[in-house]
Amino acid sequence: MIKKVAILANGGDVSGFNAVIRAILKTAENNGVECYGFIDGYRGLLKNEYVKLSTYNSQTGSGILPKGGSIIGSSTNANVFNYKVINDDGSIEYKDLSDVCVQNIKDDGFDCVFTLGGDGTQKSARDFSLKGINVIGVPKTIDNDVACTEITFGYNTAVSVAADALDRLHTTGETHHRIMVLEVMGRYAGWIALESAIAGGADIAFIPEIPYDINCAIRKINGRRAKGKEFSIVVVAEGAMPKGGEISVESVRNNGEGVDNTKLGGAGQRVAKQLEELTGLEARCTVLGYMQRGGTPTAFDRVLSTKYGAKAMELALEGKFNVLTVIKNGRLDSVPLEDVVGENKKIGAVSGNTKESNIRKVTMDHDLVKTARDIGICLGD
Ligand code: F6P
Repeated sequence: MIKKVAILANGGDVSGFNAVIRAILKTAENNGVECYGFIDGYRGLLKNEYVKLSTYNSQTGSGILPKGGSIIGSSTNANVFNYKVINDDGSIEYKDLSDVCVQNIKDDGFDCVFTLGGDGTQKSARDFSLKGINVIGVPKTIDNDVACTEITFGYNTAVSVAADALDRLHTTGETHHRIMVLEVMGRYAGWIALESAIAGGADIAFIPEIPYDINCAIRKINGRRAKGKEFSIVVVAEGAMPKGGEISVESVRNNGEGVDNTKLGGAGQRVAKQLEELTGLEARCTVLGYMQRGGTPTAFDRVLSTKYGAKAMELALEGKFNVLTVIKNGRLDSVPLEDVVGENKKIGAVSGNTKESNIRKVTMDHDLVKTARDIGICLGD
């Protein structure tokens, strides 16, 4: 019987973090299980900083369903298997501090740790399971790229924000006869770009999975012009790249091996500039950025997050650990964390959050690709 559990939220925030926390907490309380939250993800686990959660306390669990962010924080660069340590002399070292975390969990008496996060977070969770810790993962990310599940929480809200932005770009683009480019997030996967392009009525969508030929976009724009449409709407995934070209990188951060150090950026501007030069129309680029991660979750994400959270606690009560809650064929289910990690079996230094990780990308036979093609959205190929 489990008595005491802890939640950690890790990686870039999404709308729905709190809804998952609430669902785990409520299911725990309904079953007489004490529930705690580590502060700032794996960093809190390392420092052993946590709070008791309660649905009767407005700071730690009451009224959090519609709230954006995470009431227990989150960390985007804390790989405790390869953790950045600054020594007294200012030198930097990367150390495996995972055993400190294991000891903290044992000393605190947590029977299970719920890891809310994307591929990097779940890779570390799998590594902790190999060290004897009971973990249950919940798939989070606006990018929708976690392996083994059809949808991650936070994604639907990001798509809704992008679709709303496209509606707004439509009216200003139409008024000024411009090409309006919207750059959206998604890292190495094109889910947000593709789905928001459909939801927002875009004419062109460039995604990382299909390196684009700018001439396809030119033909599309000129075809529209010939029929009297003087404006066009273009969605560009931040990870999109031209055929034979490179991904657009804004900077490379120094947060050590084992997390993705690449900050993507500039893909939208690159496309806008080329389109302006090659069509003679004015083009403007909007980078949607962190708007996609902040604020209240959609009703869909509130429900999905609640399902995921309740399922995670249910699995813990059944003693089914070291799994990830997933949606498979539209139904709530779970899969071993081992399957989520995929081929990247090596324990430790390398987290899942790299180009080599086992992420779920858009496949060419996916309904969204077919639908986009059917209605004439130019995908750049
Ligand atoms: O993975 C989620 C995400 O928002 C990506 O879409 C984006 O590339 C990245 O995180 C931004 O990361 P950061 O919060 O470190 O700037």
